[in-house]
Amino acid sequence: MKINVEGAELFIEEKGQGDAVILLHGFPLDHGMWEAQANALSASFRVVTPDLRGMGQSAVPEQAIAIERYADDVLAIMDSLGIEKAALGGFSMGGYVAFALMRKAPARFTGLILANTRPEADSPEARKNRMNMAASLYEKGPAAARDAMLPKLLTPATLETQPALVDRLRATMDAMPAEGLVHAALAMAFRPDSAALLGGIRVPTLVIAGEHDAIAPPDVMRKMADAIPGARFEVVAGASHLAPMEAPEAFSALLLDFLRNVAAS
Ligand code: MLT
Repeated sequence: MKINVEGAELFIEEKGQGDAVILLHGFPLDHGMWEAQANALSASFRVVTPDLRGMGQSAVPEQAIAIERYADDVLAIMDSLGIEKAALGGFSMGGYVAFALMRKAPARFTGLILANTRPEADSPEARKNRMNMAASLYEKGPAAARDAMLPKLLTPATLETQPALVDRLRATMDAMPAEGLVHAALAMAFRPDSAALLGGIRVPTLVIAGEHDAIAPPDVMRKMADAIPGARFEVVAGASHLAPMEAPEAFSALLLDFLRNVAAS
């Protein structure tokens, strides 16, 4: 379904009933990356998976946006769905949005899942790479993001042995509006550093890394988990960056166990 947020139509998928769980996707992806988790969790929870503004089926912004815009959209979606409080999960870029939400409205979240993400802002070099990516998206369309990201999302073994997953990701990325990805690349390039936020997080937190993730390596994520009071840290064996899709069962089992504990607490 689509929800109108300040004149922009934003797409969300909703599944199941119970305590709300909001899962935010990464770049250059959409809500579909959470399909396995939405199916696994929806027997016990109300799972909401939005397409971030400018990605998937959500409207493309006409002006430059910051990471905070995506966070404001999530809050507007919650208001529109009558969700006062929810557990929040962010994968990679979705994690950057989750940090912004924990800064803006921590009281609206009952638990936090940080998957394959990192708290630091971009280095000057990483920022430059994002600007090059934005330029290349303008020139070549979404294929620029697909070619740069696909080999980093999955392990070489998954790339070889799971052609259906690779084809699906390719189709998702090829369907992305290039300008929406430009906005996302630049919003990530200039996102604030969230390292100082970690020690102040007061909700139960689960940090999930992929064993072979080079974008958000397990040692960086372990350090992040250590900085969040009481956070639990888990590594998905055999997975690269896109752990939720590469190891859907293991990833969903971690989420279910964590969310049941949050619901019981
Ligand atoms: C993502 O998966 O969302 C991106 O890898 C995040 C990033 O490029 O920092």
